[in-house]
Amino acid sequence: MTYQIAVLPGDGIGPEIIEQAVRVLSALKLPLEIKQAPVGGTAYDQFGHPLPPETLATAQASHAILFGAVGDWKYDKLPRAHRPEQAILGLRKALGLFANLRPAILYPELANASSLKPEIVSGLDILILRELTGDIYFGQPRGTRDAPDGPFAGEPEGFDTMRYAKSEVSRIAHVGFQTARKRSGKLCSVDKANVLETSQFWRDVVLEVAKEYPDVELTHMYVDNAAMQLVRAPREFDVIVTGNLFGDILSDEAAMLTGSIGMLPSASLNETGQGLYEPSHGSAPDIAGQGVANPLATILSAAMMLRHSLNEDASANRIEAAVRAVLASGLRTADIYEPGTTKVGTAQMGDAVLEALSQG
Ligand code: IPM
Ligand code: MG
Repeated sequence: MTYQIAVLPGDGIGPEIIEQAVRVLSALKLPLEIKQAPVGGTAYDQFGHPLPPETLATAQASHAILFGAVGDWKYDKLPRAHRPEQAILGLRKALGLFANLRPAILYPELANASSLKPEIVSGLDILILRELTGDIYFGQPRGTRDAPDGPFAGEPEGFDTMRYAKSEVSRIAHVGFQTARKRSGKLCSVDKANVLETSQFWRDVVLEVAKEYPDVELTHMYVDNAAMQLVRAPREFDVIVTGNLFGDILSDEAAMLTGSIGMLPSASLNETGQGLYEPSHGSAPDIAGQGVANPLATILSAAMMLRHSLNEDASANRIEAAVRAVLASGLRTADIYEPGTTKVGTAQMGDAVLEALSQG
């Protein structure tokens, strides 16, 4: 059995960080067949679309997708359908990647990287589970029009639709409870049920699903309060399950608690276990091509891929142990550098992980 892996480097620092992750994957001597395909602005420049049909077909035919990053300011003026972001949104939708796992872990070696006091964040290990294919991101109708009614009737307006079907909420809730079960047994569902109908509905469905998981301690929190508690006492949380829009915002906040978004991987899974794996950070066009980007989030995303889509837990553990060993040895890319450590570039960081792998 050979695992088909689609590798989509994308824009900005995407190709540099993906290159290191592919080196690490190749060193594991697993039966992987890797196929690269263009995506994002790079694909738009070559093929006139950020997600060309061939790239989508390659992704669909694979067991897992390793994704770099997309986006560059130079595409910001294109019509929305041609912007790089549409590639990732299109992949999520086309593959049904509804469950987005975004861990926020503070590595002990990087305790000073956080902007919060060490006593608030040390040992932080939380998981944001974000619903990824519904909500106001994809709800129809949306667009611009002349307001049909209300106090601004007749004036041009923009509008989107927040909506969730019952099965969409219940399937992400199930993932939430099952994930909580494997961790501390605590699940916090975040919504805005005091204002939004969609959120009240979300909460009702989560409560119904909860009956199947009496062993999991479920709490509910309004999203504004969750944003506050995340910076006040983040370790009170373990698994947070939330909708697409709130999850987008809270996961960036949670990532920043660790001070090193360059370290955080993510996984987006569908019902068959097929998944897309990408670093939580973006394409960072300002440092692209300089060989200074941190490849560790992408390397750790490859580890998540081995664990969640390929069931190769032992290899995933080896990669994670190698990354920890490299951090312990004091090597740092610029984003996590502090005096007393050794600054290295993207490829040198990849070399170090390979070296640690060969010893581990
Ligand atoms: C993310 C990003 C995307 C999102 C953008 C690039 C469309 O912010 O993965 O969090 O909003 O989902
Ligand atoms: Mg985001």
